[in-house]
Amino acid sequence: MTLQGCKLLLVVSGSVAAYKALELIRLARKAGAEVWPILTAGGARFVTKEALAAIAGARVHDDLWAAEAEIGHIRLARWPDLVVLAPASANLLARMAGGIADDLATTVLLATRAPILAAPAMNPAMWAHAATVANVAALAARGVGFVGPEEGPMAEPESGVGRLAEPATILDAVARHLAAGPLAGKHVIVTAGPTHEPIDPVRYIANRSSGRQGYAIAAALAALGARVTLVSGPVALPAPAGVALRRIESARDMLAAVEAALPADAAIFNAAVADFRPEAAPTQKIKKEPGAAPPEIRLALNPDILATVAAHPDRRPRLVVGFAAETEKVVAHATAKRLRKGCDWIVANDVSGDVMGGAENAVHLVTAAGVEDWPRLPKDEVARRLAARIAEALA
Ligand code: CTP
Repeated sequence: MTLQGCKLLLVVSGSVAAYKALELIRLARKAGAEVWPILTAGGARFVTKEALAAIAGARVHDDLWAAEAEIGHIRLARWPDLVVLAPASANLLARMAGGIADDLATTVLLATRAPILAAPAMNPAMWAHAATVANVAALAARGVGFVGPEEGPMAEPESGVGRLAEPATILDAVARHLAAGPLAGKHVIVTAGPTHEPIDPVRYIANRSSGRQGYAIAAALAALGARVTLVSGPVALPAPAGVALRRIESARDMLAAVEAALPADAAIFNAAVADFRPEAAPTQKIKKEPGAAPPEIRLALNPDILATVAAHPDRRPRLVVGFAAETEKVVAHATAKRLRKGCDWIVANDVSGDVMGGAENAVHLVTAAGVEDWPRLPKDEVARRLAARIAEALA
């Protein structure tokens, strides 16, 4: 990877993960970038100004008024090609979302016109808090890119989503951000995987979707420069680099997460959403009663996420793409489904073989203009072709 000549302004804020900023600087400089660090008061509790300066080979800015005397926050704001926040604390994101400028970092963030990429790091409860969720959504809607946080062990004796993305992953996201591919500045929502519909606290209804096709599509869109929100049901796949992953369980959770991610330029509905859910999901485990007949499970219809978003009164994405999983009359069913669901394109696949969970896919692209039959291809290649078509359609 080369970042030759790229100017990165790196804001290091208060998180125990601040030590990873040193490795990020080392990797960025190795790739040819120039890095100027800004250290917040919180950040300075975890990493020293001297360490940052030594690794960056540049002076570290940490004081609004000192910076004013030397270079000025406006010049600092104008200098970079990209502002990277790593680690971005909950407090930094909140101040940014509120437009507060009470230190050098937030003043520069308010003044800069450079794109901003945030790598959050915080306690999982703080990341999941409604205030943080709203701040992240507001920043994302303003075009701030996100990488991570990831799931995994943390400094604290608890784990969950909140861990800073690895420096190499952040650097990949930096490169993608700077590459400005054909989908730069575009936001695309992708749904993927199955949904789990609870029968009781321990049992659920699910399906065989592996999520592979949807994850590959999210990765291919990000590689073209799109900001991607991937809303995924439970799967055993890691988050693709540079993609904002929202994990959900049920169809109703998926609809809420998709609606929260709007507005978007395009939405790709690849998830194998359960059409039905158990009507009542008791909060206690259903027990075997000696001598009694097995319980009956009554099903209720789930909301159709694709149809709901395609018919959205004011926030319908410009391009809405559905998938059709069919076992017979694939093209005929998909053509009817395109009209019934109100979407622009349907990617139809025949799931009668080993497609679900397999590595390859043979699809037909059904649009208003007609039907294209694509050859059987690896799912990654289907994703790349589809991403390229989406880029053309949004150009
Ligand atoms: N879909 C959705 N929400 C649902 C069901 C489906 O968003 N509750 C989306 C899928 O993600 C896919 C498309 O609708 O993009 C078609 O899904 P599919 O299961 O093939 O079609 P169904 O609507 O379930 O119709 P049928 O089962 O009759 O084929």
